[in-house]
Amino acid sequence: EREQKAKTLYEVMEAACVFFERMLRMPEGKEGLDYFHRRGLDDKTIAEFRLGFAPDNRGALKAALKREDIDEKLMIEAGLLIEPEDSGRQSYDRFRGRVMFPILDRRGRVVAFGGRVMGDAKPKYLNSPDTPLFHKGRLLYGLPQAREAARHDAPIIVTEGYMDVIALHRAGFRGAVAPLGTAVTEEQIGELWKMTNEPILCLDGDAAGKRAAVRAAERALPILRPGKSLLFSILPEGEDPDSLMGAPGGFENFKKIIEQAVPLAELVWRMDVGAHKIDTPERRAALEADINQRISVIADEAVRSQYKSMFNDRIWKLFKGDRGGNTAGR
Ligand code: CTP
Ligand code: MN
Ligand code: MN
Ligand code: MN
Ligand code: MN
Repeated sequence: EREQKAKTLYEVMEAACVFFERMLRMPEGKEGLDYFHRRGLDDKTIAEFRLGFAPDNRGALKAALKREDIDEKLMIEAGLLIEPEDSGRQSYDRFRGRVMFPILDRRGRVVAFGGRVMGDAKPKYLNSPDTPLFHKGRLLYGLPQAREAARHDAPIIVTEGYMDVIALHRAGFRGAVAPLGTAVTEEQIGELWKMTNEPILCLDGDAAGKRAAVRAAERALPILRPGKSLLFSILPEGEDPDSLMGAPGGFENFKKIIEQAVPLAELVWRMDVGAHKIDTPERRAALEADINQRISVIADEAVRSQYKSMFNDRIWKLFKGDRGGNTAGR
């Protein structure tokens, strides 16, 4: 019997990534390659992001990794195979008939995958489950490249999705990252603040994107520190960074949108003031109470007191008939 060194989960994920990359170049992967080309990605980008293809077959990856002496248990632990509840049945490939986006950790190691269907099937994206290597609320897609970009003072731009990150990279915004199918978490905000003081959130211009921006604001408020905040860009209705970049004048439009990003404090102001009528004393008092409540969650005393004086000032002006500040978008 042959001696075999136990493979680590990292090696298993790397082997899977190489397999998916290779499949993209095989005849059966042609629909995947065509899909990427149709979406404007060239071979250089495909290689840089290590994009791949998972065949529509329950055992393709499993068989390939077995040939490399990788234990089935490890493939399951890595989230690459699904183990049926019924132990009599065989485990099978999780990712089938999808184009594949490897997710790298801060040091550039493959720790998870996102897979997209090429048509309209649901779910559109399937992601790796949490594993010992991957906790989805902690990592950001594009993190290793963004860390490098941040060292050269590139703006850090938080988008929703894989294709947004890739489109922005192609346009030269190498500080683009995305949370992985969740709202931005506290841990991700902490990761962003290691790279820059004021990351720019640039979520899709639809109802879900707007809700996600509000949630991100609510998540950031308690953990604000002097100097550390978020900026928010508002994309045109129905657009995301990828679709914007693909349209004529996209680069210039996007640049302008980024430059006009509004501070967190402004967004919070609009969230509360936008929800209120202020034409009676009682309604004004209700607005004041809501704003005070909002500010009270800020743990840092210095930041909280700055918010308090800014909002007091604005409320005062508002009551005198001047709506105060930039009130566009309400
Ligand atoms: N997402 C997910 N699971 C889904 C849908 C979305 O994990 N069923 C995540 C993906 O990371 C996706 C992101 O949420 O990239 C944003 O979703 P959406 O805006 O719907 O997709 P796009 O990134 O715009 O995807 P595409 O351009 O490929 O249609
Ligand atoms: Mn763990
Ligand atoms: Mn979206
Ligand atoms: Mn989108
Ligand atoms: Mn999109």
